[in-house]
Amino acid sequence: MENEIKRLEEEFQKDFQEIKSSKDLEALRIKYLGRKSAFMQLFSRIPTLAKEEKGIWGKKLNTFKNKITSLLESKAGQGENNEEKIDLTAPSVSREEGSRHVLSTVSKEICSIFERLGFITIEGKEIEEEWYNFEALNIPSEHPSREDFDTFYLDIGEKDKGKYLLRSHTSPSQIRVMKESKPPLAVISPGRVYRPDEVDATHSFMFHQIEGFAVAKDMNFAHLKGVLLHFVREFFSTGVELRFRPHFFPFTEPSVEVDISCFICKNKKVEDSKKKCSVCKGKGWLEILGCGMIHPKVLKACGIDFKKYKGFAFGMGVERIAMLKYGINDIRLFYENDVRFLKQFSL
Ligand code: DAH
Repeated sequence: MENEIKRLEEEFQKDFQEIKSSKDLEALRIKYLGRKSAFMQLFSRIPTLAKEEKGIWGKKLNTFKNKITSLLESKAGQGENNEEKIDLTAPSVSREEGSRHVLSTVSKEICSIFERLGFITIEGKEIEEEWYNFEALNIPSEHPSREDFDTFYLDIGEKDKGKYLLRSHTSPSQIRVMKESKPPLAVISPGRVYRPDEVDATHSFMFHQIEGFAVAKDMNFAHLKGVLLHFVREFFSTGVELRFRPHFFPFTEPSVEVDISCFICKNKKVEDSKKKCSVCKGKGWLEILGCGMIHPKVLKACGIDFKKYKGFAFGMGVERIAMLKYGINDIRLFYENDVRFLKQFSL
């Protein structure tokens, strides 16, 4: 037995020197350790040996097996050796790098314009309390948006039934800040909002808004106009004009909706349907946000003396602004994660 092991070892060493490929390596493993190998035959003889011999030869054969195995493994680790050389001229495996989503970019850009005017950015709460989303903003309990089907209420427990909801706008951020801080205040607050809307080209059950507001002793509508004019000229184009249309919001008085002159056709109202601007549809104006002077009842709900302090507030939809700026015609494109769409906006 001693001689046979020795002979096997010598034979293996010779074969081992001649290995050229990973195929040779596998062939060698089968030849020396496979089921039909000489080694296995030696192994199968162990039960026939005398008791004291069994242990000795078992050990020797195991040592032999370990040696062969580790030699084969060491060769296998040598980078699939000679036959598979690395081709330094081959093109590298490309790695896709992620980038910021267009909605995040637009939201950040809007916030930073206001930050440069001295506004500070804060995040409100997506799970909001009913009082902050409605009552404090002067939205009475009989208002239709207080119905279950107009707002996502959270079923947290019997005790808190109807108390928590997914905020339907970013305006409750105003309340959170005004209750906790003293004027003067100038705040911008971006985030997601939720409404049980049917999804179509212009609606989604979740979208993004940016809320802005400022409170100080002598704040008036002219300040609001000035701030907004600065914003639209920075964001869209230096030549755009603003148009204010009277509107109603419970939390502002007076309230207005704001349009900008179309930055694509430069407000050239064209009646001929074939020549109409595709962005403003020939109207010359684009609606961009709602705003107004903060209602005294809202200031009061936050513990601010409404005789001493005044404030303005505005709210805009990020998707809408991004769609206008980039001529995107379907809101669903933002959420489908199609990289062919998203890549167009990556920096
Ligand atoms: N919260 C309003 C909405 O979701 C948007 C809005 C309008 C916010 C006027 C305001 C504002 O702060 O003054 O439709």
